[in-house]
Amino acid sequence: MNYESLLELVKKRRSIRCFKPDPVPDEYIEKIIDAARWAPSGFNMQPWEFAVVKKPKLKEEIVKLIGEGFLQFKEMETTREPWQGALWKLNIMNKKGMDFTKAPVYIILLGDPRTNAGLPMGIRFDPNLCQSVYRDSLASAFLYMHLAATTLGLASQWVSAIKLPFVHCMVKDLLGIPNSMEIHDMMALGYPAIRPSRKFLRNTEKMVHYDKCDKDDFRTDEEVRDFVKRSRSWTIGVLSRSPD
Ligand SMILES: Cc1cc2nc3c(=O)[nH]c(=O)nc-3n(C[C@H](O)[C@H](O)[C@H](O)COP(=O)(O)O)c2cc1C
Repeated sequence: MNYESLLELVKKRRSIRCFKPDPVPDEYIEKIIDAARWAPSGFNMQPWEFAVVKKPKLKEEIVKLIGEGFLQFKEMETTREPWQGALWKLNIMNKKGMDFTKAPVYIILLGDPRTNAGLPMGIRFDPNLCQSVYRDSLASAFLYMHLAATTLGLASQWVSAIKLPFVHCMVKDLLGIPNSMEIHDMMALGYPAIRPSRKFLRNTEKMVHYDKCDKDDFRTDEEVRDFVKRSRSWTIGVLSRSPD
């Protein structure tokens, strides 16, 4: 393993939101989960569990719940500030095929907050710190899952709408996940039916700061707004793209 092969992997990992219906071998799912369990976690508390959903009926139910939960979220976008630019129409259930609904597998990453009892007292009893350590641990595992999927030639997508309170509760109930567990995020997984477009990436200018920082080395409010607007517009474009 060297830096070049790592960089190749991190560049290759992209959100691909258009899937072929072909099934994913169970062995690949196991490999993805195996990679995730090696992720770093605060105090090695490994607060994760994995719910793998392949049954079409259950997947359909999840899609339906996400669709319902998403309506409010979408409506809220109409209250955006004018400087943010175009309205994010957010057609996550795009019938053209650019969507997660056709992915043959969903892997739901669950968090077990009971493991927070193992964190040092100064973290455990500070709600913000505790949440941050717990969430960062789950985020690390989730990223490992995406990286592992990439190495297997699979497409993966974050489906964070699973965390909307309504969807969270209903999906847990649907799958029989105990209330002591929390849903961290959902990965839609399958073979790619699309090639990712060129990434809109910040360059390192005004990103890296050595030793004592000078205020002028950081982006101005104007620059940040400009970036936010352009990145938002890029993301909207990516989300509304039709399959190749
Ligand atoms: C915390 C987090 C939540 C995300 N949620 C979603 C999501 O709900 N739906 C989605 O399609 N992409 C989601 N993404 C993917 C980002 O949109 C994507 O990473 C970003 O646009 C950069 O594109 P790339 O993944 O192709 O590099 C999420 C990414 C992160 C890190």
